[in-house]
Formats: sequence, structure tokens, C-alpha cells
Amino acid sequence: MISNIVQQFSIVLAIGIGYSYDRLTEIGAAGLLRDVGIGKIPADLFHKNIESLSRSEQKIVEAHSEFGYRAILESDHSLENLAICTLQHHERMDGTGYLNQLHEKQIEPCARIIAIINTY
Ligand SMILES: [Fe+2]
Repeated sequence: MISNIVQQFSIVLAIGIGYSYDRLTEIGAAGLLRDVGIGKIPADLFHKNIESLSRSEQKIVEAHSEFGYRAILESDHSLENLAICTLQHHERMDGTGYLNQLHEKQIEPCARIIAIINTY
């Protein structure tokens, strides 16, 4: 079984705020697959310090969220919620995140949980 720390703590947080068992599976999968799109980012950019990247290079790295979203949907269209969690996992409640600078309720609850855990 494959797991990682973001997946595990996302499930713990979801249990703590009362998510149902069936939602835990989705949150766990989102925690595991949130960065699946990084495989499409050139390795030289991915391994650089984010502050050293130009704005255009940052946009390429940030696109990993959308690459992951597309990869999940292409594998199974029924996984739309999981794909959206992946797409939104770097959004922030105050609109300072990426890719779409979403605010509060525009961000899926699953993505909010992943974002909190991913930050720490
Ligand atoms: Fe990410």
C-alpha cells in the first residue's frame, strides 16, 4: 500500500472535523495524488528554490495542479471531485493561492484540507 504523510494527516484532520467514511477515501486519494502533475514539470525547474525562479518559471511549476487535474480526469471521468481537489490544493482562503486565486467557498472542502496539511 502506498501512502505519504500528507495523505495520512489529511485523513486525520478530516476525521477530526467529522467527515464520513466514504469522503475519507477521496481525501486520502487527494492527499496522495495532489502533486501527480509534477511529472510534467521539467526537473531542473522543480529542483530549484521557488524564490530563485522567474515569474514565467513559477507559472510552469504552478501548472502542476492543472496537469494533475487533467491526468486524473483522463484516467477516469468519474473522479471529478478528486481531480478538483488536486487542481485547487494550492488555493488559499484569502485568494493568494494558485492557479485561479479562488476564495473561501469557491475552494472545495477537500482541497482546503489538503492545502492545510500540505503547508505544514
Ligand atoms: Fe502541489
